Amino acid sequence: MAALYCVMGDPIEHSRSPEIHRRFAAQFSIALEYRRINVQPGSLPSMVRRFAEDGGLGCNITVPLKEEAAALSDSLGDGARQAGAANTLSFGDNGRIHGDNTDGPGLLRHLRVNLGLELENASILIIGAGGAARGIIPALMGANIAKITLVNRTRKRALELARRFAPLGAIRAGNPEAETPPPADLVINASSAGLAGHPPRLPRSLAAGAHCIDLAYGKAAEAFMSWARRGGARSTHDGWGMLVEQAAESFAIWHDRHPDTRKLLNP
Ligand code: ATR
Repeated sequence: MAALYCVMGDPIEHSRSPEIHRRFAAQFSIALEYRRINVQPGSLPSMVRRFAEDGGLGCNITVPLKEEAAALSDSLGDGARQAGAANTLSFGDNGRIHGDNTDGPGLLRHLRVNLGLELENASILIIGAGGAARGIIPALMGANIAKITLVNRTRKRALELARRFAPLGAIRAGNPEAETPPPADLVINASSAGLAGHPPRLPRSLAAGAHCIDLAYGKAAEAFMSWARRGGARSTHDGWGMLVEQAAESFAIWHDRHPDTRKLLNP
């Protein structure tokens, strides 16, 4: 019988996780069934329980349910605990649920291995202070970087995130209306403004000389990448590589084998 997994979120129809996990499974001749399940906020615990009763072994969790996923877990990996968000749930024999967050490790692997970027002593500017930013900050702060500056449309949320993660290292909320954020080696777009086609409402000069990456992929990343190119970015990237790498980290947790991501990165 095929091992059963899924991704839960809302919206979910366009998720490419099933395709990615099936291709990984094929590398090891693992028989895998991987579904997409639309889940509304509030109903995650019952949907996860039902999926486990149907024989599911684990699920990926995407927007907007990652915080709920951490809350329902009986135990959490370090990154999920620090972020307060989980994107990978694994079901134990005893009905217990373990939550991990592979977004941060996936992003790090993509930056270091696929893009060849050196993160040590890097100064990082993160645009956005929602769930996506929260998921990646613990891993970045564990990578010997110099500092993170957070800027967000609603500054209060940036201040809250900076306070939450201050015990892990140097992080502060910038105030772009009052001061220009310091030059960054890496600019990460974790805002969802690109979904509506909006570029950051920030001076393009912030991208000058920096490697710039959006956490979203495809069309949703275009406005940011064009903003960054016009600002003189050193390189621009969308979030496809991170999506593939976070899926590979989830796959490794579930199947105890790390898949080769290269064919998916360069289709
Ligand atoms: P996600 O899980 O995708 O991060 P989220 O938690 O709703 O979703 O966070 C969305 C982020 O994108 C927030 O930082 C949000 O800014 P606010 O905190 O001010 O809401 C940012 N965002 C969304 N639309 C935006 C827009 N049009 N302009 C600027 N920032 C935007």
